[in-house]
Amino acid sequence: MAVVSAKEAEAPGAAGRKGVEVRLEGLRRSYGSVTALDGLDLTIAPGEMVALLGPSGCGKTTALRLLAGLEDADAGRILVGGRDVGDQPPNRRGMGMVFQAYSLFPHMTASENVQFGLRLRRVAASARRARALEVLELVGLGAQVHRYAHQMSGGQQQRVALARALAVEPTVLLLDEPLSALDAKVRVQLRDEIRRIQLEVGTTTLFVTHDQEEALAVADRVGVMNQGRLEQLASPADVYHRPATPFVSQFVGLSNRLPATVEGLEAVVLGQRIPVVPRSGGLEAGSSSGVAVVRPEAVALRRPEEGEAGPRRGTVVSCAFLGSMSRVTVELPGTGRVVAQVATWDAEHFPVGAPAVVELRPDPVVVVPGDGPERATGA
Ligand SMILES: Nc1ncnc2c1ncn2[C@@H]1O[C@H](COP(=O)(O)OP(=O)(O)OP(=O)(O)O)[C@@H](O)[C@H]1O
Ligand SMILES: [Mg+2]
Repeated sequence: MAVVSAKEAEAPGAAGRKGVEVRLEGLRRSYGSVTALDGLDLTIAPGEMVALLGPSGCGKTTALRLLAGLEDADAGRILVGGRDVGDQPPNRRGMGMVFQAYSLFPHMTASENVQFGLRLRRVAASARRARALEVLELVGLGAQVHRYAHQMSGGQQQRVALARALAVEPTVLLLDEPLSALDAKVRVQLRDEIRRIQLEVGTTTLFVTHDQEEALAVADRVGVMNQGRLEQLASPADVYHRPATPFVSQFVGLSNRLPATVEGLEAVVLGQRIPVVPRSGGLEAGSSSGVAVVRPEAVALRRPEEGEAGPRRGTVVSCAFLGSMSRVTVELPGTGRVVAQVATWDAEHFPVGAPAVVELRPDPVVVVPGDGPERATGA
């Protein structure tokens, strides 16, 4: 393909157009007294999509900008396909980027926007147009090639931005919250589309988001960041079920925080014995007290027996309808509030003011030190 040879002539440093390994080693970057990256280590396998997840200000965008060459690191190395790209300017790194805000040129059609990078690379006009049509079809906009930004929805504009990033066959695709300006439904659709396209083109991709559902849904692996460092890099299921640190256990997924005593490999929570997640960075061994992080979906409700009392009996204080599931909040005297996620048909037995008994499922829990979580979450 003409585009390919033009690009390779332009960027001989790129170690192949797709499927390269990306390695960030000990990246540091400060802005005045603010440490944005505090020794970030992250390796993305060839062709893999890693979602970088973390709270606002944890350094996600900074990591992406360093990788793209838009900023310089204070320390550390960036290896793309095994080569140190630290000295290469952005246009030699062959990265395709999509940002949160719509960034199309308003005076250009979708096709012209997509051709922009190819024009910079001096690809001939006919090859440019053909390539633009090809990638616009890939993102489902084959019929919109002549539209201007103001004639397209937000979701369509982001598809064009994605097509523009892919047109130059980037070595690495960098997506910085590309969906956050879209409404919920379009967001989910485009998220799935991005994943489909990424699998199709096979480009190594870093997808930055602070939306955990998005991260868990699209990525091969999720990297959870906190205060400029990576806390865990693992499959979505592992990040969710086997969090490596207290921070991860609380940042990913909605959680109840319940007083717990750890006895060996079990925790006693509300008088129930539950296994503790091994190697979770929280409390594990010995006998000590802390806070168990319990998912709402691990909490069930039942109606109390005649005259039943105890630490797990409380009163329903609110109920949030989520569709097929509902979240019911129960106030337990002496403990506080516990959120249970239950089937909506079941939630009807627990209206506000009704008595309820909380039952914890025996899913393994992470137990963190009693005073650790707030500090770790930083929220
Ligand atoms: N150009 C800059 N000048 C000064 N401080 C900066 C600059 N860029 C980033 N920072 C600071 O560095 C830290 C990390 O910022 P960064 O934009 O990487 O966070 P983020 O994880 O992308 O957050 P968000 O989810 O809000 O986009 C923040 O404290 C931010 O205020
Ligand atoms: Mg950001």
